[in-house]
Amino acid sequence: MKITKICCIGAGYVGGPTMAVIAQKCPDIKVTVVDLNGARIAAWNDKDTNNIPIYEPGLAEVVAEARGRNLFFSTDVEKAIDEAEMIFISVNTPTKTYGSGKGMAADLKYIELCARQIARVSKSNKIVVEKSTLPVRTAEAIKNILDNTGNGVRFQILSNPEFLAEGTAVQDLLNPDRILIGGDTTEEGQHAINALVDVYANWVAKEKILTTNLWSSELSKLTANAFLAQRVSSINALSELCEKTGADVSEVAKAIGMDSRIGPKFLKASVGFGGSCFQKDILNLVYIAKAYGLNEVADYWEQVIIMNDHQKRRFSHKIVTTLYNTVSGKKIAFLGWAFKKDTNDTRESAAIYVADDLINEQAELYVFDPKVAEGQILSDLNYLDSRTAEENKKQVTVAASPYEACKDAHAIAVLTEWDEFRDYDWKKIYDNMMKPAFVFDGRNILDAKQLTEMGFIYKGIGS
Ligand code: NAI
Repeated sequence: MKITKICCIGAGYVGGPTMAVIAQKCPDIKVTVVDLNGARIAAWNDKDTNNIPIYEPGLAEVVAEARGRNLFFSTDVEKAIDEAEMIFISVNTPTKTYGSGKGMAADLKYIELCARQIARVSKSNKIVVEKSTLPVRTAEAIKNILDNTGNGVRFQILSNPEFLAEGTAVQDLLNPDRILIGGDTTEEGQHAINALVDVYANWVAKEKILTTNLWSSELSKLTANAFLAQRVSSINALSELCEKTGADVSEVAKAIGMDSRIGPKFLKASVGFGGSCFQKDILNLVYIAKAYGLNEVADYWEQVIIMNDHQKRRFSHKIVTTLYNTVSGKKIAFLGWAFKKDTNDTRESAAIYVADDLINEQAELYVFDPKVAEGQILSDLNYLDSRTAEENKKQVTVAASPYEACKDAHAIAVLTEWDEFRDYDWKKIYDNMMKPAFVFDGRNILDAKQLTEMGFIYKGIGS
């Protein structure tokens, strides 16, 4: 079966970039991305592609090329479902905030709503692709809903998890390490798998396209994120030991990373990982393990989260103790709010939790991030519900420039590894700060030697 029309439900950090690249690489396929959020769709359709809602290097150009040709953004979900032969579900799957599994299980209500809507609207056979990250065996639930419409329409469910990393989404989509497609082992299932393989084969080498059964595919995505996060927590755990022993975590990371069995990536110590995925996917894995009574497996992976929470708290605590045990009324400048560089995504960013701790200590925060606006920063803090929105607004000022953020500050905390932070006029920043001038580099990106020579008291992670 040759696919000519694709619909993607969910125009977020995954649905938007993924479909833009499919449309760019497959000009014969009409790709329609739909979302309930009208403001988000309007932004995707903004005349100026620099105003699209998601910042990713290179994405505006891809959208500019394909949009209006074979890439469309719309709020008309039903029409797009009805037209398409293949429907990607790319909606959010956050951690449940209520009921059983609260704080751990994935909240699948958005997925179920999509399945029910597909079941209601479809008049012809469809291939439904899980692009969202889902607990293992979710395809079974989706299939149950779709198979009980009674109107004779037949559905095939595929799992096609997305491995892109925010900040490098376009590059990752253009040159993926692998594409993973899970499907039914029946003949119909294999036909569906092949239809999706053919889409990717427009730009991805066939050897890089792996096909598996549904459950392996679903579980592989959770496992990939758990392994990546586990490396960060492992090196972060060692960073604390380095600080006590005189070892330097960057040197340790380099030494072990040159071992080809370990490899050099994902060994950078930091204030802790953030992002919408790592924590929620590990919690999800932990929840699934517990549901099967596998308590040791659950505890093993939960420790990755416990370590990450500790690393964030340790960073804010270090700021307080270094500033003579009080930050009350002191100005602290935050450089960076996004959870990593080259994205405007702030979900689960370490900055939010460090800020929350320091506000509890009555610090006055001045935040500068090159891509994150004031409204987002305040809403991230308000979401924690630690205090009223008015109190957050009183304690936090969002600065228009790094120099404004750092002026008269007692300390600077680097929370995101934006490249531009390295190139600031650090002498000018130093001259305008309170003395002693402290820098807490939560990403180990600044030149410690140079800053120390200028007069800063520099504190990195793990040395
Ligand atoms: P997101 O929150 O940016 O986007 C999801 C979109 O779905 C929202 O715009 C929302 O309005 C829309 N939506 C929800 N229910 C809908 C419905 N019934 N009909 C139409 N639209 C609906 O989420 P994001 O980051 O794109 O993540 C989506 C999925 O992809 C999640 O399962 C996530 O775990 C997974 N993922 C995310 C990655 C990332 O880097 N953000 C990477 C790989 C996977």
